Amino acid sequence: MKIITLLGSPRIKGNTAKILGKFEELAIAKGHKIDRINIVKYKLNGCLGCDKCKPVIDEPGCIQKDDMMLLFDRMIAADVIIYATPLYAWDFTAQMKTLIDRQYCLVKNYDTPAYKSFLKDKPVALLVTCGAAIENNADLIPVIFKRECNYTGSRVIGPYIAPCCTTPAAPGRWADETARKMADEILADI
Ligand SMILES: Cc1cc2nc3c(=O)[nH]c(=O)nc-3n(C[C@H](O)[C@H](O)[C@H](O)COP(=O)(O)O)c2cc1C
Repeated sequence: MKIITLLGSPRIKGNTAKILGKFEELAIAKGHKIDRINIVKYKLNGCLGCDKCKPVIDEPGCIQKDDMMLLFDRMIAADVIIYATPLYAWDFTAQMKTLIDRQYCLVKNYDTPAYKSFLKDKPVALLVTCGAAIENNADLIPVIFKRECNYTGSRVIGPYIAPCCTTPAAPGRWADETARKMADEILADI
């Protein structure tokens, strides 16, 4: 299977990258192919909310000339998408939020019989690392993610949240366990 991994941290060697990297190693060992995207390396603008994409049905139809369509083409071609982000102010990083907002153009005729999504039925998973505990901290982000996936019609596996990952460079004692759990559950499900 082709697995696309989206790293939403500005620290491409940080805690989230370390756990995601362990998952990738486990997936490669099982014969899967990894396409890693470090989001911070791409030029990605925020959604303009112009709605020009909505009447365009057979392609995403976004009018912006940045790198987002390159990323979307790779996401659409993948069998699975992993969204990996550190928790920033109880939420996604700005980089990951930008990508999620822009997924707006991948959905057409939402909540009507003519509904169409370029991510429909795609298995997806969320990996979050955070400095503190999960409770009263990383409890909202999986809810938001699930709601977004309801919108895109994707099928959610997980979530996977590694607490006690301090900055800098301390992925915490749940790092290995989180990567292994991801591999066990995601690779068994696809
Ligand atoms: C701007 C900023 C905001 C953060 N907000 C939170 C937060 O709300 N809750 C939390 O537990 N950790 C928070 N953290 C800590 C990071 O989520 C945590 O250290 C994470 O593992 C960093 O991942 P990275 O090394 O991949 O960048 C924050 C860190 C930064 C830099």
